[in-house]
Amino acid sequence: MKWGFAGYGRIARKFEESLSHTDHEIVAIASRSGYDRVKAPTKAYDNYDDLFADKDVEIVYINTTHNSHAPLTIAALNAGKHVLCEKPISISHESALEMVEAAKRNNRFLMEAVWSRFLPAYRKVMDLISQGALGEVKQISADFGFRMNPEDPKERLIDPALAAGAIWDVGIYPISLAQDIFKDDPIEMSTSAVLSPLNVEDRCAILLGYGNQRIAQLSCAIDLNTINDATITGTKGHIVMKNFWMCESFKVIKDDGEQSYELPMTSNGLYHEAIACADYIRQGLTESPYMSWDHSLQLAKIMDQAIKQCRS
Ligand SMILES: NC(=O)c1ccc[n+]([C@@H]2O[C@H](COP(=O)([O-])OP(=O)(O)OC[C@H]3O[C@@H](n4cnc5c(N)ncnc54)[C@H](OP(=O)(O)O)[C@@H]3O)[C@@H](O)[C@H]2O)c1
Repeated sequence: MKWGFAGYGRIARKFEESLSHTDHEIVAIASRSGYDRVKAPTKAYDNYDDLFADKDVEIVYINTTHNSHAPLTIAALNAGKHVLCEKPISISHESALEMVEAAKRNNRFLMEAVWSRFLPAYRKVMDLISQGALGEVKQISADFGFRMNPEDPKERLIDPALAAGAIWDVGIYPISLAQDIFKDDPIEMSTSAVLSPLNVEDRCAILLGYGNQRIAQLSCAIDLNTINDATITGTKGHIVMKNFWMCESFKVIKDDGEQSYELPMTSNGLYHEAIACADYIRQGLTESPYMSWDHSLQLAKIMDQAIKQCRS
């Protein structure tokens, strides 16, 4: 697979490392601030349009700030490229829908890069749940929190103009876990947030109620290092995922005992979503069964509502 990067920041460097464990190639990188760091033979562009016009690029990895995901993705799709877009796919359900329409119109692959869903341990958890290991899942708790450096003037998580805030940056992971298991739209939501001086969530708790007595208790933070675990509880037992969003080990706990699983990731884990994208494109698919357009749209809708509640 021949990749082009739109943006060359922190996560792009990690994706580059993961791609070095594959037979894929990064043929070009477009970065307004970092094009001079690109090493030959990879082509360097100082603007994104030249990247989208490059005939050697098959798939574009959008890894810029959240506010720019929709316009860049649509431009790449309209230029005939497949797209892997970093999370969150966009900053509104409406613009996410426009991105999906662009993928459909151009018959190109589009996926939101929720990389956790492709990790071997995560896939094993989903297999066990679908095989009924927990009975009926009734409750999920999941948390993702880290402490950013609020003194860093370049920190994209501070500036509302760059779509800052805990929900879009890390809250998406616990919401994604709950949606991947419960699948339905929640029927109730309540939130409680600690807001920054610029009125974006530094920390947030989200309680989602679903039909059939199912509940998700989710939390996220960019001002505090939190536990980062998830517990999935069913009528027959629990699964406890250590560091659930970068999961390599988990336990299945039942009345008659517990079983531990260790399933390491390759490289820094982004490897697994990269390999999956290439497989889908080779098969002629335009979306992933593990991170479908409907799932991205559902996540966008929930985040729209949660952010509206928190910031009002
Ligand atoms: N999958 C994961 O584990 C993971 C982890 C971290 C982040 N992410 C996601 O990846 C994306 C990028 O995150 P990152 O941490 O890599 O971001 P970053 O290093 O701060 O920046 C990424 C790119 O965004 C543009 N940018 C950054 N700060 C900017 C500013 N102040 N004004 C205008 N443009 C700016 C730059 O584009 P140019 O290169 O063109 O200058 C930069 O290369 C986000 O969507 C984030 O949620 C995913």
